[in-house]
Amino acid sequence: MKNRQNLGDTSPEEFRRQLHELADWIADFRQTLGSLRVAPNDKPGAILAALPAEPPEEGESFEKILGDVDRVIVPGMVHWSHPMFLGYFGWTTSSPAILGEIITAPLNVNAMTWRTCPAATELETLVVDWIRQWMDFPREFGGVVYDTASVGVMHALAVAREEAAPSVRKRGLIGAGAPVFRIYASEQAHSSAEKAAIALGLGEENVQRVPTDAHFCMDPSALREMIARDVRDTFKPLAVIATVGTTSTASVDPVPEIARICRENKMWLHIDGAYGAGFAILPENKSLTNGWGEADSIVVNPHKSLFVPLDFSVLYVRDLERLRRVFTLVPEYLRGDTVQAQKNYMDYGIQLGRRFRALKAWVIFRSFGREGMAARLRECVRLANLLAEWIKSDERFEAAAPVSMGVVCFRFMGPVAGVVDVGPGSPPPATTEDKIDQLNSDIVEKINASGRAYLTQTKLNDRTVMRIGLGNVLTTEDHLGNVWEMIRKTAEACCRTAFQEGFDNQTGGA
Ligand SMILES: Cc1ncc(COP(=O)(O)O)c(C=O)c1O
Repeated sequence: MKNRQNLGDTSPEEFRRQLHELADWIADFRQTLGSLRVAPNDKPGAILAALPAEPPEEGESFEKILGDVDRVIVPGMVHWSHPMFLGYFGWTTSSPAILGEIITAPLNVNAMTWRTCPAATELETLVVDWIRQWMDFPREFGGVVYDTASVGVMHALAVAREEAAPSVRKRGLIGAGAPVFRIYASEQAHSSAEKAAIALGLGEENVQRVPTDAHFCMDPSALREMIARDVRDTFKPLAVIATVGTTSTASVDPVPEIARICRENKMWLHIDGAYGAGFAILPENKSLTNGWGEADSIVVNPHKSLFVPLDFSVLYVRDLERLRRVFTLVPEYLRGDTVQAQKNYMDYGIQLGRRFRALKAWVIFRSFGREGMAARLRECVRLANLLAEWIKSDERFEAAAPVSMGVVCFRFMGPVAGVVDVGPGSPPPATTEDKIDQLNSDIVEKINASGRAYLTQTKLNDRTVMRIGLGNVLTTEDHLGNVWEMIRKTAEACCRTAFQEGFDNQTGGA
């Protein structure tokens, strides 16, 4: 009898009660999110120490589990959705996004073939085409939804590899007598290029990093020279990855010139628009898409800039059939479910089982509409430029890169005599670049440790700089003003500490 009670699902009445409780929990969480610490201050291992190490023998109540979420999980998180979370690319969620995720959960379908879920397949095709229309890609680009841009670039390069050395798919690189391929990406491009080369057997070292100009954009003449040198050295140039919205500064590579070089050398052009492509939804940003019509593949991450929660990335390939040819493989047990003349998304990548990701995107895109999405992105650009003005007006700080989309990189330059009052004695008028690096790093660390905001740091021209990524729908001008005030105050405090330490060293710590 006892065992029987353990069969099946929760009773419908009980489930309804739990759902109502959860609805309130989610609404309360969203409402109070801004008052939580952005990041925890626990030591590593604190979460594990607060939870039983042994798996439960008997089932526990939902109330108890949710209680532990409140007690251990929520305080142990970096709240990426917090309005003062300004790290990475201004990650966001929204109420429509949460509703979309909730609707997806009970459906729990496998979007591997059309027949295993026609709606999941056809909605994916629809949503992918909506994004294509917003980005204004030519019609011949078809897309597929993956989890991440890293997976997208790997699939794109697999097609490039197959087209440059047919039958690698069947016989492997050595069996097919493939040459040593080279892939080119700027110094500022994302490390997913190397990850793809590792996974495809192309070799991490065969991703060649092309120098960038003063604005962190790929230098096409350097690219041209590197390709010519590699050809002389009997390498086979395979592909160029041009980035629209690089990870550190959101810089945009000169795609039309890179496209010309790819055409001349019969190379694959992949555009990494993981972050930047979404901004092409703004009519005033249409120039971002210059040259995209000449690409072979383009990655767009709606989970970075089109308000879709992680994970949702789209790989577009000019003539999607090229991607299908490389990855289609139908084992016998799936033959009945692979109706011909229908799109089976399992054919377009290595994954068989696939989540119904398109549903949440469809809910969000319909809730905001193009206008709502554009207005929100425009506000993020406005805030980024406003912050840049504040930085410009304080002589202790300097811009470290041009503001691009929602990304602002800047550097505290250390004490300037007469501007920072550091107490008794006067600060050294000039500090070494290394000390300034340390100050910038300390400011970020201190702010993040305070739990009141979250920023990131990066290196540009070998120097440490602070970086703010805007894009969270909850972040307002007031939040940004508070963060700027916090940065200024923390910089002064870090300076005071650094100066005091220097003073103590000079005087033997007296
Ligand atoms: C420009 C760029 N490309 C690709 C990626 C990888 O994205 P994903 O996490 O979706 O693999 C990132 C991540 O930040 C990125 O900034």
